[in-house]
Amino acid sequence: MKRLLIVLIITPLLQINLFAGEGMWLPLFLQALNEGEMQSMGMKMSAEDIYSVNKGSLKDAIVHFGGFCTAEVISGSGLLLTNHHCGYRQIQSHSSVDNNLLKDGFWADGTQEELPNPGLFAKFIESIEDVSIPALAGVTEAMNAKERQSIIDKNIVEIRSKYDLKEFEEITIKPFFHGNQYFLFKTVSYYDVRLVGTPPESIGKFGADTDNWIWPRHTGDFSLFRIYAGPNNEPAAYSPDNKPYTPKHFLPISLDGITEDDFTLIFGFPGRTNEYLPSNAIEQMVEKTNPAKIAIRDKALKIIDKYMRADEAIRLQYASKFASVANYWKKWIGESQGLKSSGAVAKKKAFEKDFQSRVNKNPSQKEAYGDLLNQFEKEYNSIGDLAYANDYFSEYIRNVELLKTANYLKTLAKNQKAGNQEKYNSFKKRLTPVLIKFYKDYQPSIDQEIFAALSQMYFENVDSKHINPAAKEKLLRNGNSYEKFAASIFGQTFIKDESKMMATLDLPMDEAVKTIEADPLFQYLNEIADYHKEKVGIPKNEIQSRIDVLMRKFMKAQMEVFPDEKFYPDANSTMRVTYGQVKGYEPRDAVHYNAQTYLDGVIQKYVPGDYEFDLPKKLISLHEQKDYGQYAQDGKIPVCFLGTNHTTGGNSGSPAIDAYGNLVGLNFDRVWEGTMSDFNYDPSICRNIMVDTRYILFIVDKFAGASHLIDEMKLVRPKSAPVISKPATKVMDSKLKNKRRRKGVPRESKHVMPETQGASGGGY
Ligand code: ARG
Ligand code: ASP
Repeated sequence: MKRLLIVLIITPLLQINLFAGEGMWLPLFLQALNEGEMQSMGMKMSAEDIYSVNKGSLKDAIVHFGGFCTAEVISGSGLLLTNHHCGYRQIQSHSSVDNNLLKDGFWADGTQEELPNPGLFAKFIESIEDVSIPALAGVTEAMNAKERQSIIDKNIVEIRSKYDLKEFEEITIKPFFHGNQYFLFKTVSYYDVRLVGTPPESIGKFGADTDNWIWPRHTGDFSLFRIYAGPNNEPAAYSPDNKPYTPKHFLPISLDGITEDDFTLIFGFPGRTNEYLPSNAIEQMVEKTNPAKIAIRDKALKIIDKYMRADEAIRLQYASKFASVANYWKKWIGESQGLKSSGAVAKKKAFEKDFQSRVNKNPSQKEAYGDLLNQFEKEYNSIGDLAYANDYFSEYIRNVELLKTANYLKTLAKNQKAGNQEKYNSFKKRLTPVLIKFYKDYQPSIDQEIFAALSQMYFENVDSKHINPAAKEKLLRNGNSYEKFAASIFGQTFIKDESKMMATLDLPMDEAVKTIEADPLFQYLNEIADYHKEKVGIPKNEIQSRIDVLMRKFMKAQMEVFPDEKFYPDANSTMRVTYGQVKGYEPRDAVHYNAQTYLDGVIQKYVPGDYEFDLPKKLISLHEQKDYGQYAQDGKIPVCFLGTNHTTGGNSGSPAIDAYGNLVGLNFDRVWEGTMSDFNYDPSICRNIMVDTRYILFIVDKFAGASHLIDEMKLVRPKSAPVISKPATKVMDSKLKNKRRRKGVPRESKHVMPETQGASGGGY
């Protein structure tokens, strides 16, 4: 359960193994809830060093990167570090056959070569505030969900109105603990974020899908960007006149790295977790919904894989789509296995038994919460089939590319029906580049095969009462053959054809929608989608909103019934701190995994010419010559390491910070056995995976020869003897740097280390 024991009386010897690492904590409560534990685990900073509204603190170096990943500032000139897979779309968008940044890597030769990325933003948190009292003012337990929400919405408008916001500043107010508390985030976003450098995919994505979610890992999953600001260091839209941003704080980078049991802290924007669900929810996931989603993706992936292996051009077209479908497919398999093998349902049931017996002993709690578990049972019994049909349907649409595309056209038709030319135009404008990109990498024959296979699964595995009989009739008219059915629809639809699609979009609105509505694939989608909405979507949402109310009460009840335990709110894409220790693990009997991998292991996995395990020659020769500069430890280059930090999707790109506030790693993944941590964190097998910063520095310096970037950073040795101070420098003037470049070989940077760091080491 999520109830963290505050271990007060423990022998120092035992201590090291008792810290769970569970929890995604709100930065503003660290002092009250976590500081003591963090320091007893070895942290040398104070909570104020991590999060402060009064002075520069670690939080000022952390950004929400594009809203989906985390990144951190690592120089006084706005240099940003994030994952390769977080910057992937941008890297891909700057790539062409002749100038393939994905394949060859990219290192801007001075700031004038850094590449702008329209739409990409870096969002800083200025302050966080508990607004539970004003947000919930006037709300009573007797209200139904709708009444409650409308009062909260009004309150939120009121709270917002008190803030005077500058351009690029925003206020976000979100529910926490399933609606029992509300927090406000004041943010400022920078919209000029340029690509500075990336290793080739053979390093940044080494091991690709085979190694994804897997330990031991050998991926250099990083890329570098830079934030640019307008006059006075203020945020501004892209302009060639913008200057590198001067941060309030940036993270110094430790060359001393980590060893087993070292304290680590992860700062970032975890997306979504659900740690407090009742056992029924986990049961439903393990028994019903995960297997359905896995089966559909399994089928689609097998078909794509077959074509990718047979044809290099198709491999290139489908690699990124394959990776994104495979990512969660693989996660769900690990998650289901983990939930089963850790006995998550039984554990939840045991907790519920304890909960119920405590509640029963307390009359007022019995009155308020005594029937909660029964109600969950009832609601989950009735939502089961609907949740299954719903997941089946959305995975079906998601994995047939043409159905997904036709789904966009529904929005156009909707705007036309509403007579809203303006909305129609603006959606069309946004859709056009999406479509161009889609057709570039689209093979109708593969999609048709997937359509046939998934339609069969949908018709056979979803209860017929949830599927429109008209769709079934279409199938029967094709001799009850899914292949014929697919051939007939794909033979007639114009949606698969880029030129026809673009010509249709060029027509006046009414005519365009007329053409769209006459399309057989569009018609088929509408038939199944409208029926699905009525028979599955709406009733499911009704039950779900009742479950949401129960969840709010259950959450409140857990906090009241176990008053001595610390609770952390589920992830919701807001800023969190999680902390733990560097640790290996034992996934199964007789198997032990070390916490650290090395370059030797990269070389061991090398398969020349393989699309997942090929390596650049330069890296192999650096390894042969042991040309490691200042980045080796005991003669070896560290590559990735494990920690007990509790992370989830969105934490990718998060910094792993040492006891002193220096960067030691870059979070990018979790281990297979522990992907269930979104629902059931188990300290024995849940581990996050980080790239060791020494590998990043080694690649930037020795592999890429981009020593000007190293010069910008502040490298420290907090563990070994402090050496002479070298102040962090501003980004090198481009002209000056080019002059040096022209002289020839990139020089190896020779760094001297500044003093041991406190948290404000990189402060400005
Ligand atoms: N599993 C990691 C995460 O969920 C990395 C995903 C990117 N890598 C990949 N091979 N698909 O985002
Ligand atoms: N790979 C994930 C991300 O991109 C992190 C995780 O799920 O552990 O955010």
